[in-house]
Amino acid sequence: MIPIAKPIIGKREKDLVLEVLSSGTIGQGPKVKEFEERFAKYVGTKHAIATSNGTTALHLALLAHGVGRGDEVITTPFTFIASANSILYCNAKPVYADVEEASCNIDPEKIKEKIRKKTKAIMPVHLYGNPCDMKAIMEIAEDHKLAVIEDACQAHGASINGKKTGSFSTGAFSFYPTKNMTTGEGGIVTTDDDKTAEKLRMLREHGSRIRYHHEILGYNYRMTDISAALGIAQLERLNGFNEARISNADYLTRKLKGIDGITTPRTIKGVKHVFHQYTIRVNGTFPTGRDKLAEILKEAGIGTGIHYPVPVHKQPMYKKLGYKDNLPVAEKVAKQVLSLPIHPSLTTKDLNYIANTIKEVGGIR
Ligand SMILES: Cc1ncc(COP(=O)(O)O)c(C=O)c1O
Repeated sequence: MIPIAKPIIGKREKDLVLEVLSSGTIGQGPKVKEFEERFAKYVGTKHAIATSNGTTALHLALLAHGVGRGDEVITTPFTFIASANSILYCNAKPVYADVEEASCNIDPEKIKEKIRKKTKAIMPVHLYGNPCDMKAIMEIAEDHKLAVIEDACQAHGASINGKKTGSFSTGAFSFYPTKNMTTGEGGIVTTDDDKTAEKLRMLREHGSRIRYHHEILGYNYRMTDISAALGIAQLERLNGFNEARISNADYLTRKLKGIDGITTPRTIKGVKHVFHQYTIRVNGTFPTGRDKLAEILKEAGIGTGIHYPVPVHKQPMYKKLGYKDNLPVAEKVAKQVLSLPIHPSLTTKDLNYIANTIKEVGGIR
């Protein structure tokens, strides 16, 4: 079976984790600090604050920007549910702006239509590792004095003209095992702002700056040194992992060219897409539907994923909250998207097999 995702753990990861296990400090300690410093340097921000996962990173990022009851945060309906849920955790309301069809990322023009008095922040999600149009989004935010929290949970090392995602404003990353780099479970918030960083550190530590002195309501969202050790080793390899993903994506795109009914991912000059997912769209002119193609690929030993089958506003829990949005592009692409394996462990033989299997279903031999 060719899996849809595969974490790569080598000797360096094992050595660093064993070092932590023998050190006597296995909770949050010096390795977390070292990981934070290295990650901040990598992203190009002054600070990075490690957390227990990407969801808690998003939650703290929103709280640090003062998002709370009565506020609205504009985000995409076409994302993993954690993006929207982190807004609900703050007692604020996610407001959905539809996506651009070609990238499946939030459409800046649609953001403008959703801005109201209650709007406090914008949360763009760099879906599949492909940066959103940050120039347009930052301009909108500046015009309306809104905070921007980048959900970069899928976009480690992605960039626009060399500027990395997570450095345009406050960024949140996830290190879940399927991501481009992993710490097992883990997350991190990136920011240039000293005050925001200080608040994030307090919020992560039950609202305290000094041990057992609690100034605000906070949480235990700490990362362990065991996870940070993994993170340090993975970060050293991230550029290599990303280059392999990009090269695999180029290869697949060339191989899948010209199949009627298959749209391959769009790339734009100057925009570095790091292919957390390589997601094609299967439309009506392909001989089978998307789900049937996924079934055929599974039978052929090729794992696939649907990111995502149901847009957030259509999820039962959001429907129960009264969401009745009509977001036609998100609803359309949710029926078409299919992620193929793209991870760095794939061989040329694997890539040829994936492409040829799809070609055969598409009637090309
Ligand atoms: C876009 C997006 N946001 C948030 C998250 C949440 O991250 P985690 O699973 O580490 O809590 C994920 C992880 O899958 C994600 O893909």
